[in-house]
Amino acid sequence: MEEQKVLVTGGAGFIGYHLCKKLSTITNNLTIYDDLSSGKLENVTDVSSANFVKGDILDLKTLYSLPKQDLIYHLAAQVVVPYSMENPLIDFETNAKGTVCVLEKARKDDAKVVFASSAAVYGNPSVFPTPETYGFHPFSCYGLSKVVGEEYCQMYREQYGLDVVITRFANVYGLRCHGVIHDFLDKLAKNPDKLEIIGTGKQSRDFVHVSDVVEALLTVGDADKFNGETYNLGIGKTINIIELSQLILTILGLQNRTVVTTTNQSWQGDVTKIWFDNSKAKKELNWIPQVTLEDSIKEVIADRKISI
Ligand SMILES: NC(=O)c1ccc[n+]([C@@H]2O[C@H](COP(=O)([O-])OP(=O)(O)OC[C@H]3O[C@@H](n4cnc5c(N)ncnc54)[C@H](O)[C@@H]3O)[C@@H](O)[C@H]2O)c1
Repeated sequence: MEEQKVLVTGGAGFIGYHLCKKLSTITNNLTIYDDLSSGKLENVTDVSSANFVKGDILDLKTLYSLPKQDLIYHLAAQVVVPYSMENPLIDFETNAKGTVCVLEKARKDDAKVVFASSAAVYGNPSVFPTPETYGFHPFSCYGLSKVVGEEYCQMYREQYGLDVVITRFANVYGLRCHGVIHDFLDKLAKNPDKLEIIGTGKQSRDFVHVSDVVEALLTVGDADKFNGETYNLGIGKTINIIELSQLILTILGLQNRTVVTTTNQSWQGDVTKIWFDNSKAKKELNWIPQVTLEDSIKEVIADRKISI
């Protein structure tokens, strides 16, 4: 990959930052493309060797003005499920049409594309752990826009001969993440005596550490043999949000102090359980997720210097 020109859309976001940090140690030709709508400038400045272009993936003119690329990691997206239910058109524009724009840039350059898809394409599965072959059953506009993105990737592979790999992420977490673990820690830092869970608390998730996801992204980006394949990237275990809160409280020594309540109301598009079958990634990518949920929560607590 050293000689390749690599573009990361959404490189100022959470996963994009960790991917770019690693890529910057491998290639000198790294470009981050991001409109900073939810991404952070510090995620870009902390990858000092990368070339940063502030731009919208829907803006083909700016995309085309970038140098010819060899490999494109397409991560830029609208990522919030409830927002997608309230704003289906914006979600569609960014995730579906935006993906076609990135594919057009790839077609022009004959670049390989690695697409960041999601567990949301499975909706509320009836098969656990859920394999890649379960098929598309989206339950939210976000899930549907990711299905459309995947289908366009495959269409560009079949019709234009583009090299494409689909990676479906479970719940990715780690430093600089947004999401439930950080929300709990924020709430507990403010008031360690009570913790309110949004939703029923019974919804369960497959949490995978961002460094493990980055390893898989590097593997699929680096070889031709994964062309056309789809990979589930999850730890292959599931934990419900009440159990997650108990784990965090135990790590913080708050298990006998904090009163946990739930709003008992899930939101539109929320799914009950995510639990990935990751055996295909393990076998074909030689992928062995390394980081446990407990270790990673400790890492986040240490990083944020939380003491209660
Ligand atoms: N974090 C997870 O648990 C998770 C799970 C499944 C899938 N994914 C997918 O992984 C990818 C990265 O997610 P993340 O968690 O890092 O989210 P993020 O919000 O931190 O990153 C998304 C980035 O895309 C940028 N962006 C949004 N719209 C854009 C546009 N029109 N043009 C240019 N840039 C734009 C944002 O500014 C942001 O930097 C997304 O495609 C997301 O759907 C993430």
